[in-house]
Amino acid sequence: MERISRNERECWLLVGGRQRLGRALAEDLAEDHDLVLTSSRPWDGEPWVDGLSKKAWVRTLHWDAESPGLVSRMMADLDTLKAEGRVISGAVLLAGNFPMQPLGTWTAASLEATWRLNLGFPFLCAQALAPVLPEGACLQIILDTSIHHPWLRRLPYSAAKAGLAALVPGLAQLLAPKLRVVGHALGTVLPAEGSDEGFLAERTLLKRIGEPADLCRAVRFAADSPFLTGEILTQDGGRRWVDR
Ligand SMILES: NC(=O)c1ccc[n+]([C@@H]2O[C@H](COP(=O)([O-])OP(=O)(O)OC[C@H]3O[C@@H](n4cnc5c(N)ncnc54)[C@H](OP(=O)(O)O)[C@@H]3O)[C@@H](O)[C@H]2O)c1
Repeated sequence: MERISRNERECWLLVGGRQRLGRALAEDLAEDHDLVLTSSRPWDGEPWVDGLSKKAWVRTLHWDAESPGLVSRMMADLDTLKAEGRVISGAVLLAGNFPMQPLGTWTAASLEATWRLNLGFPFLCAQALAPVLPEGACLQIILDTSIHHPWLRRLPYSAAKAGLAALVPGLAQLLAPKLRVVGHALGTVLPAEGSDEGFLAERTLLKRIGEPADLCRAVRFAADSPFLTGEILTQDGGRRWVDR
């Protein structure tokens, strides 16, 4: 069985590694990791990826949660990497969206779309990745502090993240002892367009919103903590302890 050698430069796969938190994590990890980055859109010679390639081996993949051919595409890409001798020794699932869907606007189609991307897609990625990750690897899944208190105008999104909160310990049981599974429940780090950052900061114990570095630090901590599995680490500046 393949085992991770901690002396080698590891290769990690970031699902949703092109924008926002995914890109910030890729830029952090590229210092000492090789990377496979996925996006829902074809890649097109982006300067920041060229910059990463000067520090790390980088492969870009096109995984779209909306594509009917998604599962076969994921399997084919993972087979190709394996045939090339690449061992994916860690994975972080970041892809999602954050739709405003107040009560009264719900339709079968809009609910399915939210749950397909924010719930079904991480399930399918985890299922595809589990067989290729080597012993000792950690699969990390990004959730939201809404697992503690749902966003009332984003209940379908909050329900999807609550589903991932079941996936983390369930998958940890299914994949142990070979693999570990860790979740990260984040408060606001990169606010949605139009949100009031000052207001969001005020509603935390620490009086600030998060920074991408907060996530990067925790992802590295989880990967380097061999006794940690099935847990969800909440980083929300204490948001969940503030009276609403
Ligand atoms: N930002 C925050 O403050 C915050 C707070 C709490 C939790 N989170 C969680 O952290 C993760 C990252 O959040 P974020 O704010 O950086 O980004 P985001 O806007 O929530 O989206 C993450 C990525 O998902 C990918 N994506 C969108 N549609 C897709 C599709 N059909 N198929 C596959 N991938 C798709 C997008 O990349 P492409 O367009 O390249 O595909 C996007 O960069 C999410 O899971 C989010 O729920 C974020």
